[in-house]
Amino acid sequence: MTASVAMQGMPMAERAAAATSSGGAAVHCDGITMRFTTERGTVTALDGISLSIPQGSFLTLLGPSGCGKSTLLRVIADLAAPTAGSIQVLGDRPEVARRNRDIGFVFQDAALLPWRTAIQNVSLPLEVGGTIAHAGKRSPAELLKLVGLAGWENAFPHELSGGMRQRVAIARALVSGPKLLLMDEPFGALDEITRDRLNEELLQVWQSTGTTIVFVTHSIYEAVFLSQQVLVLAARPGRVRELVPIHLPLPRHLDMRETPEFVRLAGHLRRVLETC
Ligand SMILES: Nc1ncnc2c1ncn2[C@@H]1O[C@H](COP(=O)(O)OP(=O)(O)O)[C@@H](O)[C@H]1O
Ligand SMILES: [Mg+2]
Repeated sequence: MTASVAMQGMPMAERAAAATSSGGAAVHCDGITMRFTTERGTVTALDGISLSIPQGSFLTLLGPSGCGKSTLLRVIADLAAPTAGSIQVLGDRPEVARRNRDIGFVFQDAALLPWRTAIQNVSLPLEVGGTIAHAGKRSPAELLKLVGLAGWENAFPHELSGGMRQRVAIARALVSGPKLLLMDEPFGALDEITRDRLNEELLQVWQSTGTTIVFVTHSIYEAVFLSQQVLVLAARPGRVRELVPIHLPLPRHLDMRETPEFVRLAGHLRRVLETC
């Protein structure tokens, strides 16, 4: 039996701990450096990033604008090749994980096709890339239900609110049954109440799918609420400033944000960010 099969049904925190102790990292980066050469000179976007993200865990990248968060996600997703350093995704080269469709990506803009309904948007990756038999894969209709859109299957994007469109984008990213979900400021353009609700729902999706999530945000509160670990990056060049473990219990509810431990963690992250 593989480690991931053995871990199904385990509570998430235990699953992450078991994955760490067995060395089963979803992402392992060693000295990742990324330089861009432009007309104005060379920019070092990432400078020697090393990190290990346990399978099944939820890690957030937090840091000022331009510190390389999106670049790091793109390297993990095999959308960009690093200038130096090595990276493994699910124990292999990122290219292999991408080809196996083990990686889902959600951006700030849902980027739905306006002429397709919600369920047709969710189905699109299956039509484009063909079906791949992944254990635990769910149908487009099941995924829309999972993200709270049962009954909206046949609605077009213009009939949906910003939060609902982003829910469709999450369902679409999950349709190939990815083991790793990368989310680049997915709720950055939403109002606060909608963002709060989606944060709670995202944790439910994470717990029910067992997918490893790497999430990018500017919001300290969002980072503390969602994560098991927050990686703070400093800018110019992008470097790891601190990896902060978040030991708040699961499941989490929004009123936890008023607890002394939550306030302490948010204060700590704010002080670390001030040095970035
Ligand atoms: N394709 C590119 N060409 C040149 N510079 C880039 C490119 N992509 C990112 N950069 C630069 O790399 C740095 C990190 O960018 P990015 O990863 O987008 O940061 P973040 O997502 O944290 O805001 C920035 O200085 C940005 O201008
Ligand atoms: Mg970015």
